[in-house]
Amino acid sequence: MQFDTAFTRDIGCDLPIVVAPLFLISNIDMVVAGSESGALGSFPALNVRPVEKLREWLQEIKRRTDKPFAVNLIANRTNIYYKKQMEMCLDEKVPMIIASLGNPTELIENAHQSGTKVYCDVIRHEHAQKAVDAGADGLIAVSGGAGGHGGFISSMVWIPYLRKQFSLPVLAAGNIATGEGMLAAMALGASGVYMGTRFLASEECPISENYKSAIIHARPQDIVTTYKLDGVAANVINTPYVQRKGTDISWIEKKLFRSRKLRQLLFGLRSLRSIGVLSEAIKKPTWKELWGAGQVAGLIDEVAPMQDIVERILQEYEEAVQKLPHAAQLKK
Ligand SMILES: Cc1cc2nc3c(=O)[nH]c(=O)nc-3n(C[C@H](O)[C@H](O)[C@H](O)COP(=O)(O)O)c2cc1C
Repeated sequence: MQFDTAFTRDIGCDLPIVVAPLFLISNIDMVVAGSESGALGSFPALNVRPVEKLREWLQEIKRRTDKPFAVNLIANRTNIYYKKQMEMCLDEKVPMIIASLGNPTELIENAHQSGTKVYCDVIRHEHAQKAVDAGADGLIAVSGGAGGHGGFISSMVWIPYLRKQFSLPVLAAGNIATGEGMLAAMALGASGVYMGTRFLASEECPISENYKSAIIHARPQDIVTTYKLDGVAANVINTPYVQRKGTDISWIEKKLFRSRKLRQLLFGLRSLRSIGVLSEAIKKPTWKELWGAGQVAGLIDEVAPMQDIVERILQEYEEAVQKLPHAAQLKK
């Protein structure tokens, strides 16, 4: 199946589906499987350590698929490898960069010179305005309930709001795992969907079986927002470990977070502290079960190969389209 949306035209992929970047998780196999399925595979540059190996990853991905893919860059000072990562991505002609945080102006200027498109994660109006002013090619509407560092605005509002306010393609991030969800996002004006949690429960995803099982068994209410990771709201499964640790930071930290400079420092320090627990919880059985996931985990009932997941979504999309005339009949 092929789609024709502002996003597929912009990036040159068959399907308006992005296999979203997953910190410490997305690997080369996931990117290749995602892109080969017709969707757009992606990964966070920070998953590659040491940073010099990023070029090897990019070259291997290009050897294994001729389809487009994307790299996620943290575009602020907490990412000390930002400049090197940007240079390597642009040298290797990465088709799309997903910019998170910071000011993407320099990145977008350089990217456009080498033919790379830049889409920016946005969770509030000011981020979207900054991305538009910097010349972004598209916006990623990260909504409330999304896995990882989700937003706080409902998809029902955030997607059409961004479409109305800014004339750029919008990708709908958060709360989508099915063809019905994809159709709903497109009806709200999205040019594509951006899914993280759905692909955590895939065969290619290198997380532990316990983590995958927790996603399959989670109900929407089992996802909670914690500030303990790095001081910024993150959605995780409400495991006994998360309950024991609590989800809020101390009032002193809250106070310090109000200062812009200290916020970046604290964010960096807290992230460093959490990385050890996170990487252990992701890959092997441990009592420190710290597992990122979005509310849409409640709709996921099986682990499957990524190709099958994409095919199932397309089939559900088609079935949902077929049902639309029934919606029209609801009118008197
Ligand atoms: C475990 C996990 C790790 C994530 N890591 C990143 C990341 O490194 N960079 C990023 O931009 N988004 C990250 N995200 C957010 C996803 O890219 C995507 O926006 C989100 O999963 C979409 O919502 P959904 O989970 O409801 O599909 C992460 C999400 C999860 C669940």
